Parts: sequence; structure tokens; C-alpha cells
Amino acid sequence: MIDIAQVRRDTPGAETTTHLLACGSSLMPRCVADAVIKHTRLEAQIGGYEAHAQQAAPLEGVYASVARHIGARPREIALMENATVAWCHAFYALPLRKGARVLTCEAEYAANYVAFLQRAKRDGIIIEVIPSDADGALDVEALEHRMGDDVGLIAITWIPTNGGLVNPAAEVGRIARAHGVPYLLDGCQAAGQMRIDVAELGCDFFSATGRKYLRGPRGTGFLYVAERWLDHLEPAMIDHFGAPWVERDRYELRDDARRFETWENSYALRAGLGAAIDYADRIGIEAIEARVRLLADHARSLLAATRGVQLRDLGRERCGIVSVSVDHPEPQSLVARMAEAGFVIGTSAPSSTRLDAERRGLPTLLRLAPHYFNTEDELDRAVAHLGTLL
Ligand SMILES: Cc1ncc(COP(=O)(O)O)c(C=O)c1O
Repeated sequence: MIDIAQVRRDTPGAETTTHLLACGSSLMPRCVADAVIKHTRLEAQIGGYEAHAQQAAPLEGVYASVARHIGARPREIALMENATVAWCHAFYALPLRKGARVLTCEAEYAANYVAFLQRAKRDGIIIEVIPSDADGALDVEALEHRMGDDVGLIAITWIPTNGGLVNPAAEVGRIARAHGVPYLLDGCQAAGQMRIDVAELGCDFFSATGRKYLRGPRGTGFLYVAERWLDHLEPAMIDHFGAPWVERDRYELRDDARRFETWENSYALRAGLGAAIDYADRIGIEAIEARVRLLADHARSLLAATRGVQLRDLGRERCGIVSVSVDHPEPQSLVARMAEAGFVIGTSAPSSTRLDAERRGLPTLLRLAPHYFNTEDELDRAVAHLGTLL
């Protein structure tokens, strides 16, 4: 059981703001902001390189924290500035030949899809969208039927940016493994919201961000690269950190996932990411997952009973992101009006998940995404206030 009073005391923002946008950028706990500030102060005091050297051991520990959190080994982790960079590093490193099919899902995120389009234009890959089942999740049987020798990659989003859906990521992983096809999983909205075990998921690559459900600082993320890729995967771009210049005409790739990193980094933000993951793990990810779902379902039942609101969530298994359309010409203006009353919610435009939005004829949606530190009472008040604006 989570001590709600304690986690709220640990969250300075919760005193003044009802924050219901964990899928955007959640409230940092105090210990996370403190870790960032402490390292920044140290840099100001003794110099950036010196601060890094002095904090080398705890900063190294951030890899161990990420690895423990997702069931990986520290050498399989690269720290990144966001989820998109992490995802792109894996995607652009993969040698996909002309005509190779890349299988994805209808709820795929915009950043990933435009990268597919670029490689379709540049390298001649074929993007194939696996249809959804009757509940709106990726249809695993359809995926199995589409497998073949010309499939170069399966790349899907586990939890889409809107739509409440949890895609069957582990079942997809079993198919990928059975056919020996690389599997790149976008876990951006899952990290910090639910338990992650990369071995159970069967993925080769997993990308995530720090600022959302993990409650880390902005400008953080990570990439998991399964050990089996570390002896041959060549990043699309390298520097002398990921690939030391060992002879005049030769570099050597690092033997770990840090071959995707560059020399310069924000160590203050990394310290914050490590603090965020350790904080989540002290609370317990299973307890977090259960409470997020409880609160999201509470929000869904309140919203379902609100005039002028239509729930737009899909899937048998629902996550913490609650998506609705509203009878209002400018949903964005409602976000501002809610903020004036102390409630942080957000929107999601059709262009962020274009395939799903076009298929379902979705307008701009409102997103409410409670985190475990929220209360039922906050949700009651937020939804009641939204109702008065419609
Ligand atoms: C499903 C999904 N993937 C990837 C991203 C990109 O994450 P980042 O902004 O950290 O690059 C987002 C951001 O909203 C997302 O929702």
C-alpha cells in the first residue's frame, strides 16, 4: 500500500496543483529536484569536470538503477536526452535493406512514424501497419499472419500517447523471437507506470523517457539494447566516446550500449533520473501500477457520467491515460480554463497518432492522466469543474 500522505509530502507541487498529466510531464518528487540542484551547485562550486569526477560512483549507479528497473544489465543501458533520441538510435542503426517490411501498429507515435517514412523514402523500406483487433489493441493473430522472411523489424508502441490502450507487447515479443526478427518497443508511456521486464517482453530494444510516469527531470531518457546486439550493432552516428579513436585510421566501438552515447552530457539531469527511478522502486512499481489503474478507472467512470464528454479509450487492458472528446469547439481552451482553477490536464492532437485518429475520426482529445500521488477527491473536483465548462 502506498502511503499517499507521505508521497504527497514528498511532492511539493501537489500542495498547489492538481496535476493530472503524468503522460505529459509529471511532478518531480523533492528528492529528484534536489539531486539535480545539488549536482548543478557542485558544478558551480568546483567546476563541471571536477563535479563529474567527484560524483563518478553515484552517476555510474544510474545505469544500475535503470537496468534493475527494467530487468536488464547495466551494460545494456544507454542514457539519453529523451525517448525519441533513444528510439531513433536503435532504429537508424538497424540495417534494413530495400523492400524490407517494418511492421508497426495503428496507434504508433508520430515521432516514430515519420522516421519510418524517412527510411521508406531513403532506404526503400515498406511500412506495414498491423490492424487492431475488435478491442482496439494490436491484433496478434494478424501479426503472426504477416510474418515472413522479408520482415526486417517489428516496431510498436506499448502504451500510445492517447487512447488508454496497453498493446500486447509481450505477445508481440514471442512472435518476434520465434521468427528471429528484431523488435523495437516504444515504452515511453509505460516506464514508471507499470512493471517492465525486458526479458518477458522479448524486445531487442526498449526506449523510454524520464519526465513522464517516472517523474524524472525533463531532458532525460534511456535506451535498452539487448546483449545479443552489442557485438555488432553499429550506431548511425558515433563520437570518440562511443567509439574511441584507437589508431589513425580506426575506431573501436565500445562493447556496451554506451556506444550510442556522446561525450558531453547533463550529469545533473542524470542524477535526477537516477533519483526518480530509485524513488519509484522504493514505493514499488506493482503498487504504483495498481493505483494508477484504480485512479484512471475512477476518472473514466466520472467522465462517462459527464454531459458533453465522450470516452475514447480502447483495449481490454487499460492504462493510466484517460482520453475523451468534448462537445466544445476549442478543447485547447479548456486546458487553460482548467489550469486557471488549478487543474493540469492536456490535449492530444490527431497528428500525434494519425493512423488511429483518422481511422476513428478523432478530434483533438483531452487527456487526464492521474499518477499514484493523486487522490479520488482531486479527480472528483477536476471532472466536476470540467463539467461546468461544457
Ligand atoms: C508513445 C510515445 N512515444 C514516444 C514519445 C516521445 O518521448 P520524448 O518526448 O521523451 O522523446 C512520447 C511522448 O509523448 C510518447 O507518448
